[in-house]
Amino acid sequence: MRQLSRSFFSLALCITASLIVFAPLARAESLQPAGWDEALKLPEARDTNPDPRTVEVNLEASVSSLEIVPGVKSDVWTYNGGLPGPLIRAHVGDRVIVHFTNKLPKPTTVHWHGVRVPIEMDGVPDISQPPVEPGSAFTYEFTVPDAGLFWYHPHVMSAAQVGFGLYGALLVEDPNDTVTTADELVLVLSDIGIDDKTGALYSPDSGGGLGTLFGREGNIVLVNGRVNPTLKFRDGALQRWRIVNTAKSRYFNLVLGESQRFALIGVDGGLLEYSIEQDHLVLAPGERADVLIAPRHDAAQPLMLRTFPFDRGFGSIEFRSVEDLVTFEPSTLPSVPTASLPRVQHPVTAMSLAGATKLQMDLLVDKPTASFSIKTTPDYKHGAIPAALGETQIWTITNHAVWAHPIHLHGFFFEVLDESGAPVHPIGWKDTISVPAESTMRVAVRFDRPGSWMYHCHILDHAEAGLMSTVDVAVPAPGESGHHH
Ligand code: C2O
Ligand code: CU
Repeated sequence: MRQLSRSFFSLALCITASLIVFAPLARAESLQPAGWDEALKLPEARDTNPDPRTVEVNLEASVSSLEIVPGVKSDVWTYNGGLPGPLIRAHVGDRVIVHFTNKLPKPTTVHWHGVRVPIEMDGVPDISQPPVEPGSAFTYEFTVPDAGLFWYHPHVMSAAQVGFGLYGALLVEDPNDTVTTADELVLVLSDIGIDDKTGALYSPDSGGGLGTLFGREGNIVLVNGRVNPTLKFRDGALQRWRIVNTAKSRYFNLVLGESQRFALIGVDGGLLEYSIEQDHLVLAPGERADVLIAPRHDAAQPLMLRTFPFDRGFGSIEFRSVEDLVTFEPSTLPSVPTASLPRVQHPVTAMSLAGATKLQMDLLVDKPTASFSIKTTPDYKHGAIPAALGETQIWTITNHAVWAHPIHLHGFFFEVLDESGAPVHPIGWKDTISVPAESTMRVAVRFDRPGSWMYHCHILDHAEAGLMSTVDVAVPAPGESGHHH
């Protein structure tokens, strides 16, 4: 049962949940048919450390010949020979040690997207560490302080290297989690540009300046590295999906069947203060979602998970098609009469905004040169924002472009305060926020660890075309105002 230190909410939830929702579900007992997720389950990294609080894994980047498009081999870039890389599993507070080796023809690094690591482990070349040269190794070691689905990817030539296949998921679980369905899946959504006759990968600069301005999307959409895999399921039985969008430009706009519901229970950095039900689910590049679903079979047509074109700005929905992501195969097990999806609550304390520094950030585009820039007010050189250790800042981010920008900050979580002036609820911790075209969002963030932390658009072509800078969090020198002994 729950720890006493948890709030009344968790207890109330636990009781409600066990009475109404989880009554038919024995803890940690699957309701799905045997082998239900075989066709799309991620390989897992092997933990070589016997200490239960330490997860120690080997990770090797190399070029591997894989059949992504059925019948055609492609030389994709992989971690441990797979696309995506292996799922790394840990629990809150664990020590994670990753022995990384670079067998690629180019330098690379590993960035732990969303994890509150020390700056030395952030994987940014020449800020955190020198790039890992071909044939060299680097050991990443950090503690995972937050539950949630995180991910890892290179931070050298990111648009090219992520586009070629380098990404994987890191799942950090909370042993006190109140959601206890046994039937869980981690879904890594991505796309890749492949010539389906020769198997050659698209060039990272295909389409020239227009390609850069729009952000390059692959022509093949993948779920855990596969094209439209099959998932066996039991009608009406609850499943929990943790989903990450690792595509370098594509937004996913997920729809299950004829708009069956998703209960969104968590986002990038853990559970929301309360869950919300949605009939579609949008994930910008870099974002994660934690959802509950209870898929229902429809005798008239096969149940599918699809992604619909999402309007992320100029030219993003014209001539676009709906893509099939997962095909559901009903089992003969008796159906579970689900009345409604569970409601999940989780104590989340809003940030204290007392004494916060205010900053205006303008995201600008220059079409003739196919470049982007960031202007801050006060005006700091190249947008590099100074912050004192422990400082809270409120950023008003105005996107002047006709395309949305998913802005990612390394090392810290945002609390979204409002979007186009409307307060945002429920509260959840975000490291990647999609700022729609020609609109404004306000976020708060507290900088509690020193270092030079990147922020950038996670449409990786945009980042490389100028939508990228740093927040420089300094420890105040002795005697400086604000320093306490
Ligand atoms: Cu996921 Cu700097 O990126
Ligand atoms: Cu962008």
